[in-house]
Amino acid sequence: MEAEAIVKFFHLVGMAWGVGGATIVTLLMIKSSKDAELAKAGGKIMSIISKLIWGGIILLGITGPILSSMEEPAEGLFRIKMIVVLVLVINGFLMSFGIKPKMAKLSPVDGKPTPEMLKVKKMAMISGMISLICWYTVVALAKAL
Ligand code: HEM
Repeated sequence: MEAEAIVKFFHLVGMAWGVGGATIVTLLMIKSSKDAELAKAGGKIMSIISKLIWGGIILLGITGPILSSMEEPAEGLFRIKMIVVLVLVINGFLMSFGIKPKMAKLSPVDGKPTPEMLKVKKMAMISGMISLICWYTVVALAKAL
C-alpha cells in the first residue's frame, strides 16, 4: 500500500471514531433524558465515548496536515472544512472542560434536579447538537472536495 493510502486509512479511522462517537452521545443524551436508569449509567458511558471522540480528533489532527502535504487540497471548500473543524474542537473543549465538570458537580443524589442543573443540561444538549451537525458537515465537505 502506498504511503498516501495508509495516511488516508488512519484519517478515515479518526473520522469513524468521531462521527460514531458523536452520534452515540446524542442518542444517549436523548434517551437518558427520558430514562432515569440509563441516565445513572450515562455519565460513565459518555466519558468512555468522549475519549474515543478526542482520540478521533487527535488522529485527524495528525493525519490531516500530512495528507495536505501529500496532495494539494481544493482551496474554497477546504477552507470551510477547516473552519467547521475549528468550531468542532472549540465546542469539544467547552463540552469536556466546561459543561461536563459542571454536570458532575450539580448531579442530584436524589430528588429533583436544581434549576441550574436543568440549565447546564440544556447547554449540554445544544453543545451535543452543534457537535453532531459539525461532524456530518465536515464529512460532507470532505467528500465534496
Ligand atoms: C473533523 C475532522 C475531519 C474529518 C471528519 C475529515 C474527513 C475527511 C474525509 C471523509 C476525507 C475524504 C477521504 C476520501 O475520500 O478518501 C478527507 C480527506 C482529506 N482531509 Fe480530512 N477530515 C477532518 C480533518 C482534517 C484536517 C484537520 C485536515 C488538514 C489539516 C484534513 C485534510 C484532509 C485532506 C488533505 C484530505 C484529502 C482530500 C481528498 O482526498 O479529497 N482533514 N477528510
